[in-house]
Parts: sequence; C-alpha cells; structure tokens
Amino acid sequence: MEKILANITGVHGYVPPDILSNADLEKMVDTNDEWIRSRTGISERRILKGKGLGTSYLATQAVKGLLEKTSTDPSEVDLLICATVTPDYQFPATSTITCHNLGIKNIPSFDIGAACCGFLYALSVGKQFIETGAARKAIIVGADKMSSIVDYTNRSTCILFGDAAGAVLLEPSKDDCGVKDVILKSDGIGFNALHQKAGGSVSPATHETVDNREHYIFQEGKAVFKVAVKSMADISQEMMDKHQLTKDDIAWLVPHQANKRIIDATARRMGLDKNKVMLNIHKYGNTTAATIPLCLWEWEPLLNKNDNLILAAFGGGFTWASAYLKWGYSSQP
Ligand code: ACO
Repeated sequence: MEKILANITGVHGYVPPDILSNADLEKMVDTNDEWIRSRTGISERRILKGKGLGTSYLATQAVKGLLEKTSTDPSEVDLLICATVTPDYQFPATSTITCHNLGIKNIPSFDIGAACCGFLYALSVGKQFIETGAARKAIIVGADKMSSIVDYTNRSTCILFGDAAGAVLLEPSKDDCGVKDVILKSDGIGFNALHQKAGGSVSPATHETVDNREHYIFQEGKAVFKVAVKSMADISQEMMDKHQLTKDDIAWLVPHQANKRIIDATARRMGLDKNKVMLNIHKYGNTTAATIPLCLWEWEPLLNKNDNLILAAFGGGFTWASAYLKWGYSSQP
C-alpha cells in the first residue's frame, strides 16, 4: 500500500506593520545597534499594537490569507492547531478563538505549548491526523505576541523578540512529497534558565508579582545559548544521519530564528553553505512559534517540488526538534 504523507500545500504569514528598530531600543534601554546586530543578527522586529488585539489576531490574519490563497472554504478544515506561548487567555484555547473569527466550526482545535519548538510539535501532531485519515485538511499555525511578555526595561531580553504568525495547510499526498519525519525532544532541566515566573497556577497574579515584574520572560541568555547551539546542531545532524542525507541532498535549512550565531553553528555542523539557509531574523527577531512558517512563507517562491528541507528549532523547556520534508509544489512554472 502506498504510504500517505502529510504534505504542505500552502503557507501564509502575517507580521504587524509597526516596526521596533534597534535605534528605538537605544532610547529605551542601555544598548546599541552594533551590540544587538553582532550578538544576535537582529536589526528590527514587528510589534502588534491596538487595544484588545492578541495572538489570535495574528493567527487569524495568517490563516485567513492561507484559506484565500489555497481556495479553502472554512467548512473544509478538519483540524486547527495553534502553537503559542502567548495565548489570548489561559483558557479557552487561542485556536478556538481563531476558528471562531474565521467561521471554522465543529472540528478538533487546540493549542500546543512547546515554546520555540511549538510549530514543529504541532506539525508532528497534524502529520499524524493526516496519515491516519483522521483529517484531510489540517491547519497548523504558529503565532506569538511576544511583546505581551517582554520586559522593555530589561536589555538582555527586550532586544530579542517580535510578534508574528505563520500558518501551513496539510493535506494527504501519495507522491512521496510531504513531512517524512519529525524528531521531538525535551528536558525539563531547562526550566531554571528560561521561564515566566508568575501568571500560572504555581504563582497566580498578585500585586506583588506585578511589582516584581514576574509576568515577563526570564532568561539566562548565556546558559541557554550554549545548550541551544549544541541541541539544534545535534538534532539536525541526527535527522540527516537517520535518512542518509548529505549536505548536497538538502535544498534548505529552515531554522528557528533565535540568534544568528545559533543558526550559523547549525549550518556549519550540517556542512551547508549560507545560501541554503533561510534567514530573516534581521527583520523580525525571535517570533517564537512563528519563525519557521514565516520563513517558509517568505521563501515559498523559491521552493521547488521535491526540494529536501530540514526544519530545526530549540526553545524553552528545554525543547528541541527537527523535521525532514520533501516540498510538494513549485510556485514558479
Ligand atoms: N546591549 C548591550 N549589552 C548587553 C545587552 C544589550 N542588549 N545585553 C546584555 N549585554 C551585556 C551583558 O550585560 C554582558 O555584560 P558584562 O560582560 O559586562 O556582564 C555582556 O553584554 C555579555 O552578555 P551575555 O548575556 O553573555 O551575551 P551573549 O553573547 O550570551 O548574548 C543573548 C546574549 C543574545 C541573549 C544570547 O545569549 C542568546 O541568544 N541566547 C539564547 C537565546 C535562545 O535561543 N533562547 C531560546 C529561545 S526563546 C524561547 O523559547 C521563548
């Protein structure tokens, strides 16, 4: 029997129009453009402004564009998963709000929280819905309004993050194109180095938690950096070894965009030239669950059917992940 693969048949992204540049940040904290660019690769990021607009707004824009460009009616969607660490509310899930905004009803829909690996975790779940026949059209959206949990008085974190969303449509394919494999890993040892201290059930919001600025991202950058470099390179190499892929077999590395130095180290380990690496961190910073689909969206015009792509990410938890996929269509004739 032919193996059914979950194929990406469309991708769309959304970035809000407001730009927060390194020059803007120089006026807010003790930093400078040269430090930010040389240590991270970031020049600017997008910020979602507007009262009452949260992550579902970003997700809705991305999915709306995806439905339009793939001529998909909301009634045809069988599953929608939203990867995010900045849900609109503790509950209900941001996915259900996104579905409601778009007229998508009566389907399974839920959020996945795996920090910067959220998109790859969600992709692996969607893949299994498609492969088992439980869904024929599944939408995976990575969306984060990181500006809602960034402390703009903390120079070590506020320079890193931005807001965005990216979404893909998964459908069954029998022509060997699609998501071939996903490797997911986690280790809770990462808690101490990267978390949000308050706002969850361990430490619900109080005046004190707000006064102590505990509702923002806490990160020990250097400790996270060391693990990120090794883990993202290791898991990408593991995927190559598992499928006997050489550097020449790979058309593109699609890395999570947390720090250009982490991406460079991963590409070096895989033996890839930089012209095979999707990189847009300079424009958007780290948009957490959105970085990978945002790259796919931006590079879509250059992708060809049967291109081998390795997707790789590292994030809070710690979590780390890679996916190997054969791209399913060419945008240009
Ligand atoms: N501007 C100027 N100087 C700064 C800034 C800044 N914005 N931030 C820190 N510095 C200073 C520090 O105070 C320190 O000074 P000191 O030596 O006098 O103490 C010096 O620069 C070096 O600081 P480090 O933190 O050691 O800088 P590093 O080179 O490690 O870069 C960074 C920091 C960019 C955060 C890096 O560690 C990093 O990218 N870490 C990994 C991030 C990541 O991948 N996170 C996971 C995904 S996020 C998620 O899952 C939600």
